[in-house]
Amino acid sequence: MQSGMVLMEEGKDPTVTARTNQSRGFPQRLLQILVGFFLLCVVFSAISMYMVRYSGFQSAVATARPSFQLCVEKPSNGLEQWIRPPSKLMHNMTDQELFWRATFMPRMKNYPFDRVPKIAFMFLTKGPLPLAPLWERFFNGHEGLYSIYVHSLPSFQDQFPASSVFYRRQVSEWGKMSMCDAERRLLANALLDISNEWFILLSESCIPLYNFSVIYHYIMKSKYSFMGAFDDPGPFGRGRYNSNMAPEVNITQWRKGSQWFEVNRKLAVYIVEDTKFYPKFSDFCKPSCYVDEHYFPTMLTIQAPNLVANRSITWVDWSRGGAHPATFGRADITEEFLKRVLEGQSCFYNNQPSSVCFLFARKFAPSALDPLLLVAPKYLGY
Ligand SMILES: *[C@@H]1O[C@H](CO)[C@@H](O)[C@H](O)[C@H]1NC(C)=O
Ligand SMILES: *[C@@H]1O[C@H](CO)[C@@H](O)[C@H](O)[C@H]1NC(C)=O
Ligand SMILES: *[C@@H]1O[C@H](CO)[C@@H](O)[C@H](O)[C@H]1NC(C)=O
Ligand SMILES: *[C@@H]1O[C@H](CO)[C@@H](O)[C@H](O)[C@H]1NC(C)=O
Repeated sequence: MQSGMVLMEEGKDPTVTARTNQSRGFPQRLLQILVGFFLLCVVFSAISMYMVRYSGFQSAVATARPSFQLCVEKPSNGLEQWIRPPSKLMHNMTDQELFWRATFMPRMKNYPFDRVPKIAFMFLTKGPLPLAPLWERFFNGHEGLYSIYVHSLPSFQDQFPASSVFYRRQVSEWGKMSMCDAERRLLANALLDISNEWFILLSESCIPLYNFSVIYHYIMKSKYSFMGAFDDPGPFGRGRYNSNMAPEVNITQWRKGSQWFEVNRKLAVYIVEDTKFYPKFSDFCKPSCYVDEHYFPTMLTIQAPNLVANRSITWVDWSRGGAHPATFGRADITEEFLKRVLEGQSCFYNNQPSSVCFLFARKFAPSALDPLLLVAPKYLGY
């Protein structure tokens, strides 16, 4: 950072001199020099942008930024570099580097600038996003209030056109321990943008159940983060606890919950910075214990019990039985079905009884896309 700032200071001088010279009314010769200098700048930034693309974020700090500052004659603003989201999602940081960087956290409550809090929509997928057209419609018109991150298998390259909200929103590959590694990496990438305040994990089979404004306000006004967490005394709950996890985790703190969560920035940092519980789960939670179902719910129940709602905001149907929840396709998208999902729910929202309990639903097959696009304006509000 030091060297970056020095570079920017140096970069400021020529432009300042140039401007004062110009104001004295120099002839065409100087204008030519200035134009030449400007063109040189453009070429230089094009080259650095090209280099950044292939060498990552680190070098973006060192080269691209100062040259940009020089060209657009922006005064180097000390705060700007800390509050601007990274210009490129792709970086070459290792997980260790990324997690360290992502957990930088301001200690003061108030921001000294106008911060519009955003929701980070984090898609954890194996391949493409077949329901993307529905999401595009959902996001349309709400720019500045959301950011999108997609974590897919490394073999999968996104094919989104430049006009898509999903264009170049892919972060790097899947991890080792479980899906939790991928989820932590998604969170860490999203934390790099200081405007992201809430973080929602979604899959390629998820759909939003309300329009953007309703979802934004529901999350913004909630006192709690929506992490499913319950104490299941049976074999699929406490039965999966391993006493080697003590004393960090004891059986009364053991929780289970769906991996599709919504957490605020504070809890996101807890998850990314964790080195206390992670080894316990990677060593002692092996099938039939599933890290995805226990790690975050248990960890947050220990670290911040008063900040979690203990329920998920993603609707899912287990009523058909079996190891996997029901998947809905073209034929399932009927009026009755939508009413079943949207109505007759009851839960607590900010300690008050509420009938709006789920903001998202899964799982939807690609074949559900067309009928969903048809019913969305009437039933889902977008
Ligand atoms: C990332 O790229 C920079 C500049 O090219 C290089 O110095 C650094 O070692 C790279 N880091 C990793 C982890 O590859
Ligand atoms: C979103 O839905 C709510 C409730 O149905 C409605 O009052 C509001 O006008 C909608 N907002 C937009 C921007 O469509
Ligand atoms: C687990 O923690 C609870 C609450 O902190 C405590 O009351 C209980 O004795 C602990 N149990 C074990 C087995 O350590
Ligand atoms: C969630 O559960 C924890 C303990 O498991 C409890 O302390 C907390 O009050 C619960 N949250 C809500 C909103 O009920």
